[in-house]
Amino acid sequence: MSYPYTRYLASKKSVDDRALHQGVVAELRRQWRGGRVLEIGAGLGTMVARLLEWELLSGGDYVLLDVDRQLLLDSRLWLCEWAEGRGLSVVSRDERLELGDLRVHFVEAEIGDYLSQGLGQPADLLIANAFLDLVEVPATLPGLFRLLVPGGLYWFTINFDGETIFQPDHPYDQEFMRVYHRGMDERVRYGRPAGESRCGRHLYHHLRAAGAPPLASGSSDWVVHARPDGLYFGDEAYFLESILQTVEEGLRGHVCEEQLAEWMRLRLEQVRSGELLYIAHQIDYVGRAPS
Ligand SMILES: C[S@@+](CC[C@H](N)C(=O)[O-])C[C@H]1O[C@@H](n2cnc3c(N)ncnc32)[C@H](O)[C@@H]1O
Repeated sequence: MSYPYTRYLASKKSVDDRALHQGVVAELRRQWRGGRVLEIGAGLGTMVARLLEWELLSGGDYVLLDVDRQLLLDSRLWLCEWAEGRGLSVVSRDERLELGDLRVHFVEAEIGDYLSQGLGQPADLLIANAFLDLVEVPATLPGLFRLLVPGGLYWFTINFDGETIFQPDHPYDQEFMRVYHRGMDERVRYGRPAGESRCGRHLYHHLRAAGAPPLASGSSDWVVHARPDGLYFGDEAYFLESILQTVEEGLRGHVCEEQLAEWMRLRLEQVRSGELLYIAHQIDYVGRAPS
């Protein structure tokens, strides 16, 4: 699996494990009666592994939807490896993967196209992790709720909310983060507006307006720093390098080239020396679709 985005999403799993708001997870656990799960923008499928690890799921059907074919191909391999490492039975069929009693299905689709075409079987739980800040929420939300049975559960997590913090402070940080966030607000992908930098806080109002106010919410900030031995947990040094690369791509052409190169050199050096602290502010919500 040589696709860099695959390694990034695998390295992100431990960061999300720590970040996901446990009060929101507890509410999801209280509400969930089992059934069909649909995850949109599912990437590598690390959420499948997490929900099995957290014993929120044990069987049933789980649909992974993503626009990126390579990620879905890698997802099969990653999930097989993960399951075999835990002694779970794995059966790989053409159309699905069976992990113990859980049947995992893979759908390659862009969410806007998917919503405008005929929809599959409605889900009992809709999951979007680190995804809704990549789409135009007010235009997308009503369609998303049509993917659920009436009154079905949603769990929308890791919704970015306008704060990117690198420590130690650097004189360029304020200006660079302002430009980086503005880029999120202006982003267009697949011919549509693609998200915004304050998705987390605005999502609350969009959910209410759509008749689906949250039952619980909480912050799910990413907080990444080295352990006392100076090494980052798991593959989180790679996670940090990927985040820095994303910031660099967002800034290139919009800030002074020499200053950007200087900032990147320093930040990457801080990852190597175990000095860099990275925080991203995010918000989680769980609730029910209109019935
Ligand atoms: C930040 S990643 C999160 C992946 C996964 N949910 C996780 O947290 O590990 C966003 C994912 O959304 C997918 N994606 C982005 N825009 C999309 C769209 N318009 N339709 C479907 N998938 C999309 C990307 O391919 C990527 O896998």
